[in-house]
Amino acid sequence: MTIEQVQKKICRLKAETDTCILAHSYMTEDICEVADFVGDSYALAVKATKTDNKNVIMCGVRFMAEMVKMLNPEKRVLLANPEAGCPMAEQMDRQLIQQVKEQYPGYAVVAYVNTTAELKTIADVCVTSSSAVNICRAMPQKDILFIPDINLGTYVKEHVPEKNFKLLSGGCPTHAKISEKDVAAAKSAHPEALLLVHPECRPEVTKHADYVGSTTGIMDFAAKSGAKEFIIGTENSIVQHLQFAHPEKTFYALSKDLVCNNMRSTTLVDVLACLSGKGGEEMVMDEDTRLAAVKCIEKMMEYGG
Ligand code: 13P
Ligand code: SF4
Repeated sequence: MTIEQVQKKICRLKAETDTCILAHSYMTEDICEVADFVGDSYALAVKATKTDNKNVIMCGVRFMAEMVKMLNPEKRVLLANPEAGCPMAEQMDRQLIQQVKEQYPGYAVVAYVNTTAELKTIADVCVTSSSAVNICRAMPQKDILFIPDINLGTYVKEHVPEKNFKLLSGGCPTHAKISEKDVAAAKSAHPEALLLVHPECRPEVTKHADYVGSTTGIMDFAAKSGAKEFIIGTENSIVQHLQFAHPEKTFYALSKDLVCNNMRSTTLVDVLACLSGKGGEEMVMDEDTRLAAVKCIEKMMEYGG
């Protein structure tokens, strides 16, 4: 079968089975074309509360599918590729954070959305890369224990100087690989280009950026900017999406190493297998965990993006 034939079959099965396909912006072009919605983590969470289909397929990583299930317990939610996890989300567990909380009594726990459902059960509020600064600024508590990403935490701390932050040393292995040396090399190869980076990058990288934001934020900035060339400091799928969307502009990868194997593991064939009842993993969550974890997502929605 050709890509187009697989896509046609997916669209037919989607309608027949009352299924909505949500895709994170890191998915490949062929998946984005058949998705009902493509966006960053925050937009996907909001979208998940609005879909009225009986079934949802999440093309992304496990914590994203868990989040859809938390918000839609009555729906059948499938993770398109059961192997797709986020290493950062697995770095810290509830027991560890419980111990840290005891050392910092009175601190509000702010959890990056890239965390497991189990860890979300002890968070006061969840944040995404696009909402973290605004939420930390708006919440009433002055003392904040920010988990697990030290780079996003450092970025938020700089933008919310009026609050006290305790950060832990977790992070995204893909974005954390990028160094100031990579920035110098990319800028010297493309001196006219603007540098747009994700806040999961290290401070030595973000300090050189013309724009720091979520995957969607980076794409919106590039779309609206009058500049003609851009160096992209997030997963390299975004370089390709931008090049397709804006052929009159040129996009360069900050590093060839900006590849998330977990996000790349989902294929168009996985989506077809889910719709044919032959693949994917149905998200199952006990009701106590769901009720305890969903509170911090609802709090995030209350504060807004
Ligand atoms: P966004 O919130 O920008 O979608 O990022 C999610 C992610 O996993 C980035 O690596
Ligand atoms: Fe997780 Fe990093 Fe991959 Fe995003 S890019 S899913 S944070 S490992």
